[in-house]
Amino acid sequence: MLTLENLSCPIDSEPLSRDAASLKCKNGHTFDLAKTGYVNLLPVQNKRSKDPGDNKLMVNARQSFLNQGYYYSVVEAIFSSYPEDALGDSPRILDAGCGEGYYLDKLGELFQIQGIVNERIGLDISKWAVTAASKRDKTASWIVGSNASLPMPNERFDAVLCLFGFPVFKEFARVLSANGLLLLVESGAEHLIELRRILYPSVHEYKPTYADGIEGFELLCEQVETYQFSLASQQEIQNLLVMTPHIHKASFEGREAVKQLTSIDLTADVKLRWYRKMTGVESV
Ligand SMILES: C[S@@+](CC[C@H](N)C(=O)[O-])C[C@H]1O[C@@H](n2cnc3c(N)ncnc32)[C@H](O)[C@@H]1O
Repeated sequence: MLTLENLSCPIDSEPLSRDAASLKCKNGHTFDLAKTGYVNLLPVQNKRSKDPGDNKLMVNARQSFLNQGYYYSVVEAIFSSYPEDALGDSPRILDAGCGEGYYLDKLGELFQIQGIVNERIGLDISKWAVTAASKRDKTASWIVGSNASLPMPNERFDAVLCLFGFPVFKEFARVLSANGLLLLVESGAEHLIELRRILYPSVHEYKPTYADGIEGFELLCEQVETYQFSLASQQEIQNLLVMTPHIHKASFEGREAVKQLTSIDLTADVKLRWYRKMTGVESV
């Protein structure tokens, strides 16, 4: 279901109403729809840089890599672990930090196959990512915006997905309905370990995240997806490298060593955790 309805003005939080080509609040703040159908709800005063989030190169690399299906197992794991009782009533889903839209698009395909009516909105701070997402999937809505200040009213969604992203739990709790779901997907200890061993003189010890839980959320279940996959060209290896934080963190020598590779066998180690918003948690 494509909708850019029930969103809030990023300047004064007033409801936005839609006409054919724009969203407008009662105070006259107007946001034009881009040609590909997304809307930019990140006002210049909320930007910390001129071109926030992933740049065009990173977005293109991620799209090329993901389109090869190497992480499709993660899509299937999300779908199969989605709490069943939450799928019955046309779930409204926000992908917060959606990147170029691969996961929301593929989830939408699986929902469609199963006849699960849903509303999907992807939001990312990168205009490059959202432009790509809005081209790849016309059945979802796409927004340029920030997790730090979501341009949406309280209790707007039944689920928030945050995949390899930048969670802002207070905002996620605010936009989630009572008992709404939060999915966190993160790298596990062995994720891309073979690549990291080439990039770094010594690999950092893995520190588990949210070991003490997340305020306002209860953990429902945790699942780890571990599997091997192989890349068989320097181009694919570069695509993977460029879409990860390692492209900025690794040394010159490490990146040069990776440039010499023509193939690599890799481990994917991905942790999925589903949480439920605890009742009694106030919307702010
Ligand atoms: C590692 S990528 C993951 C993208 C996507 N979830 C995926 O797994 O393919 C992180 C994404 O978070 C976006 N991002 C960074 N800061 C953000 C913020 N404050 N709000 C929303 N998105 C943000 C980046 O532009 C980038 O697309």
